[in-house]
Amino acid sequence: MKLGTPLSPTAKRVMFLGSGELGKEVIIALQRLGVETIAVDRYPNAPGHQVAHRAHVIDMTDAAALRALIELERPHLVVPEIEAIATDALVAIEQSGVCEVIPTARATQLTMHREGIRRLAAETLGIPTSPYQFADSLAELQAAIDSGIGYPCVVKPVMSSSGKGQSKLDGPADVAAAWAHAASGSRVDQGRVIVEGFVDFDYEITLLTVRAIGHSGAVETHFCAPIGHVQVQGDYVESWQPQAMSAAALTSAQDIARRVTDNLGGRGVFGVELFVKGDQVWFSEVSPRPHDTGMVTMCSQIQSEFDLHARAILGLPVDTALREPGASAVIYGGIDASGIVYSGVAEALAVPRSDIRLFGKPEAYVRRRMGVALACADTTDTARERAKLAASRVKTSIA
Ligand SMILES: Nc1ncnc2c1ncn2[C@@H]1O[C@H](COP(=O)(O)OP(=O)(O)OP(=O)(O)O)[C@@H](O)[C@H]1O
Ligand SMILES: [Mg+2]
Repeated sequence: MKLGTPLSPTAKRVMFLGSGELGKEVIIALQRLGVETIAVDRYPNAPGHQVAHRAHVIDMTDAAALRALIELERPHLVVPEIEAIATDALVAIEQSGVCEVIPTARATQLTMHREGIRRLAAETLGIPTSPYQFADSLAELQAAIDSGIGYPCVVKPVMSSSGKGQSKLDGPADVAAAWAHAASGSRVDQGRVIVEGFVDFDYEITLLTVRAIGHSGAVETHFCAPIGHVQVQGDYVESWQPQAMSAAALTSAQDIARRVTDNLGGRGVFGVELFVKGDQVWFSEVSPRPHDTGMVTMCSQIQSEFDLHARAILGLPVDTALREPGASAVIYGGIDASGIVYSGVAEALAVPRSDIRLFGKPEAYVRRRMGVALACADTTDTARERAKLAASRVKTSIA
């Protein structure tokens, strides 16, 4: 593995498809290694655009536009940062050998669709998941619930993320509204949903799993300490590391994560989402890339999930060791406006062992994630208090 000089013929070039806050941090990690970075998003001045060597704005669901840009830039690696991409084009690009897709084109294809990854985990790999069925109409949804899924249950569009279009159903009166909500929240209006039995878990975790080349020259699997998190309406609001787990639950979580990521293949960080009750673990879903709840690793690990991703994709060794307990708390837009102003940053940073990231998104919405507060402490409980306090001190306004 050799690294070159950016903006020269020897450069190692990496293209990001999606350039939000997670991509921005991976780009920064690559910049530190002298890698030439190309950030792509569907809107101008996305967070990653602001730190990359070059920025492009295209519709990444447009296969022809995607292919044309890859042919123009000739990256060595293409790193998808979001799910809404023309993944069929990535499969063709990978097959033609033009560049490598991280972790693999197949992984991006399977994970962009809840049906692909769920059937792989539950049916091909035999991994425990919530009971589930797919439905293409309100009548099919009702039939799926009546024939076994029961209440409470969760309905989600097959293509969506961050909780969009998702509802929890407590009884028959909720079914029609859940169907309508799913149709409105689907990324592409496919009119297909997954209905899952509600898992009454004690807690949920993200198990960051890294596939990286080891001393032997073969890909090895590494696990970060488990990350606990709280989701509100399917969107993460705070996370902490490590989440305490029984030895049996941790072993089972790592076993599930290894089986899923072995199947998806390639190199890089995966965010394996799991539900835990006692010693029992259920697979929920997996991101073939750094995970939003993993932002906590910017303070809690020696190498953050972004450093780990950068190293793993380049074929470099990784160290997943925890440094100390840490937590993250999301900073929301609070208003619908562009070019907003952040005050209270000094007060936030006065919280002991705290840090913040402001992503630089050009436009805020009330519930848009605009930044994150981080904090370390001797315990995760103290770290969570500190991160939440720091986040609460940041105020947004129009000017
Ligand atoms: N079957 C279930 N039982 C209990 N809770 C669930 C179930 N499915 C989802 N949830 C809750 O909703 C959250 C979001 O669900 P999921 O991860 O499937 O959606 P998502 O839209 O892909 O979210 P993200 O993209 O933010 O990960 C989960 O983290 C969990 O808290
Ligand atoms: Mg999720």
